[in-house]
Amino acid sequence: MLFDTHAHYDDEQFDNDRQTLLASLPEHGVGLVVNPGITVETSRQAVDFARCHPHMYAAVGIHPENCHDFCPEQIQQLRQLAAEPKVVAIGEIGLDYYWAENPPKEVQQEAFRCQLALAEELHLPVIVHDREAHADTLSMVQEFPKVTGVFHCFSGSVEMARQLVDMGWMLSFNGAITFKNARKAPEVVRAIPLDRLMIETDAPYLTPVPYRGKRNDSTYVHLVAETIAAIRELPVEEVVRITTENGKRFFGIA
Ligand code: NI
Repeated sequence: MLFDTHAHYDDEQFDNDRQTLLASLPEHGVGLVVNPGITVETSRQAVDFARCHPHMYAAVGIHPENCHDFCPEQIQQLRQLAAEPKVVAIGEIGLDYYWAENPPKEVQQEAFRCQLALAEELHLPVIVHDREAHADTLSMVQEFPKVTGVFHCFSGSVEMARQLVDMGWMLSFNGAITFKNARKAPEVVRAIPLDRLMIETDAPYLTPVPYRGKRNDSTYVHLVAETIAAIRELPVEEVVRITTENGKRFFGIA
């Protein structure tokens, strides 16, 4: 059974077939999915998916690209949503310095810090987005030594990966690792202990090869497992088993 630890089914690209697709995932071998929110509203939707589908779990959070109007009221709304039984993390939160139109760094950092504090208060792990912001993201999570989490779609160096592993963190990888130009990620996958590895799709984005360009969904997560199996020279069933176990342990799913 595969565990897609990061997919965005609130995205409008799923408007025409969302419920049928979600219901069909277990038939395709995908037995567990975590849907992180990127705003208060999409966090609420993620909670709804988890209510409707036994194999779906939710994370609640405000993505750095969506924190223009961040305010303490939103933390209160996330706190209420996080009280739902199938909310397993605070996310997707973090820093994104890639897009020029993103909120100013100070605003992103304020939103990130407040959500890390919320995770600490609620004893929940975090799902971190770090794009072109490695140093700041690492130093901000180090401000919260009691909080643990996962760097999703990890794009840092082997050295940064080792530092996170030493801090007890997880790293997750998606279709980007199947792209021809993937260099650092395979090196990291080779370097870190298997018990720190999770797989994801980040659907509807980052569709793995050979389906790159199409809409992504959780049924493609096996392609990520296959790529990791090839890198680590392990049977794919072994990678599927280990990454599912890791995801269950990390998110506290029985
Ligand atoms: Ni995401």
